[in-house]
Amino acid sequence: MIGIIGAMDQEIKAYLGLAQNIKEIVWHNIVFYRATLCNKEVCIVKSGVGKVLSATICQKMIDEFLPSTIIFTGVAGALNSTYNIGDIIISTDLMQHDMDATLLGCKHGQVPYSDYHIFKANSNLVDISKTIKVEGHSIHFGRILTGDTFVSSQDSKRKFFIDELKGDAVEMEGAAIAQVCTLNKIPYVVVRTISDKADGEACENFEAFLPQVADNSSKVVSQLLQKI
Ligand code: ADE
Repeated sequence: MIGIIGAMDQEIKAYLGLAQNIKEIVWHNIVFYRATLCNKEVCIVKSGVGKVLSATICQKMIDEFLPSTIIFTGVAGALNSTYNIGDIIISTDLMQHDMDATLLGCKHGQVPYSDYHIFKANSNLVDISKTIKVEGHSIHFGRILTGDTFVSSQDSKRKFFIDELKGDAVEMEGAAIAQVCTLNKIPYVVVRTISDKADGEACENFEAFLPQVADNSSKVVSQLLQKI
């Protein structure tokens, strides 16, 4: 069984549209959809936004449905200036940009007193993704930064994310999923479509482009499901 998690309705809508034999399992106000997608058994869920909800729902998914792989999907803001709205990024690695215990001698992003820092996505899933093509869409491989902040500025923080943390895109869940999957030894990858450039126009672009581009990620994920 393969777990597919997105933060918002628009980010899981395409998967539910393609899925067959859907059975709903409700936990609190969270609906897990067990289904068949591209001939694979899947469990699709909307986690809600941010690190706490996504980590909680990811752990619940693992405990209840025992997925062999987890794919997190949705949209992201671009930091890499070569990325355009509508392009797709597949995580090579991920990091929490808002984890900062540097005053304690930790590296930026490192969870104190642990080895959790830069989370490498499963190399087999990334390699398989490299064989995927989606007509009309560029697919990039890069570093995704995660934090409980919607980034919409051209200030020093954005520059820090690019120059120091070497981020290619920013979002609000990926590294949390990566940490939970690492803890549970579950292979994972994050597939996101660029909805904005995390700059001064990010809010307007996010709202305008989310409905238009959110389905792009599913074009990669559908092919990925057929190959794993
Ligand atoms: N998800 C999509 N765009 C984003 C942004 N600019 N900041 C954080 N998360 C995002």
